[in-house]
Amino acid sequence: MTDLNAFITGLPKAELHLHIEGSLEPELMFALAERNGIAIPYASVEEVRAAYAFSNLQDFLDIYYAGAAVLQTRADFHDLAAAYFARAAADGVTHAEIMFDPQTHTARGIAFGDVIEGLMSAQAEAHQRYGMTTQLILCFLRHLSEDEAFDTLAQAEPWLDRITAVGLDSSEVGHPPAKFARVFVAARAKGLKLTLHAGEEGPPAYVYEALDVIEADRIDHGNRSLEDAVLVERLRDAQMTLTVCPLSNLKLCVVDDLAEHPIDRMLAAGLKATINSDDPAYFGGYVGENYRAVAAARGLSRDDLATLARNSFTGAFLPPDEIARHLETLDAYLAAHPS
Ligand code: HPA
Ligand code: ZN
Repeated sequence: MTDLNAFITGLPKAELHLHIEGSLEPELMFALAERNGIAIPYASVEEVRAAYAFSNLQDFLDIYYAGAAVLQTRADFHDLAAAYFARAAADGVTHAEIMFDPQTHTARGIAFGDVIEGLMSAQAEAHQRYGMTTQLILCFLRHLSEDEAFDTLAQAEPWLDRITAVGLDSSEVGHPPAKFARVFVAARAKGLKLTLHAGEEGPPAYVYEALDVIEADRIDHGNRSLEDAVLVERLRDAQMTLTVCPLSNLKLCVVDDLAEHPIDRMLAAGLKATINSDDPAYFGGYVGENYRAVAAARGLSRDDLATLARNSFTGAFLPPDEIARHLETLDAYLAAHPS
């Protein structure tokens, strides 16, 4: 197992499902609260961690949005992303596509430009320091209206060349993909890729909507697709990338136990699954820990792990020549680490 853990850490991989606000560690939350003179309802880092016990998605979201209140300045967003990129680099991540929730910040009077410029400066640094390629995914909050999503897309206009895709996150049940059909059409017309959280808590019907109404390029989570054999066949035939997040699934009670996680069933069904961390500061592990935990719980083989890493690159929103370059790095690693 130790050998396999070292193999996982060094395995070149892309992270495709990571909310940058969900990488806010309690230590940084305290430091930013102090720097910005903001009161937070916790006395210590330990107390913050103790509060991270969730029974569903909404439980988590309430705490996640409250935590984001300490993020105020361009420097804060830089420091947040810089800390994530350092962790990701240590986990063998060579490409990261990070999601951000501008509405969580603009609703508090933070300028869209401060959010994205802070993230962009950390992206430049990550490339320089680690050779990591990175991209931004702007997420719309699905508990808000489509008009508000349109407003956010308009605010993003000056930075559209720095945004790769739009996503849809927050409270899933009751807010199906079709609610945002028009804004996704508008985003597509601007050259953006489309990815949607679907089938985390929501039913298979939401995954169908993401495919049929939105024509999604990628599905985030997608776990509940497994309840529908016809849907599984469609996802397999389309080789649709699913950005699966094992520790998130455990902490948000999408699975009761990691020993029941469906990652290997997804691979066995021919689904193009990937492993990601979602909100690592809240769910107990970065992407390497997600690979290690689910590999141990489900007895994944080196071939499974190599497939998951390969899927992470072929599922990335990168041009073909850059994907090929990442795959060469992966193949060289696999050749240098035979079983
Ligand atoms: N699901 C929905 N919205 C989110 C999540 C998630 O796992 N993480 C951050 N926002
Ligand atoms: Zn997510």
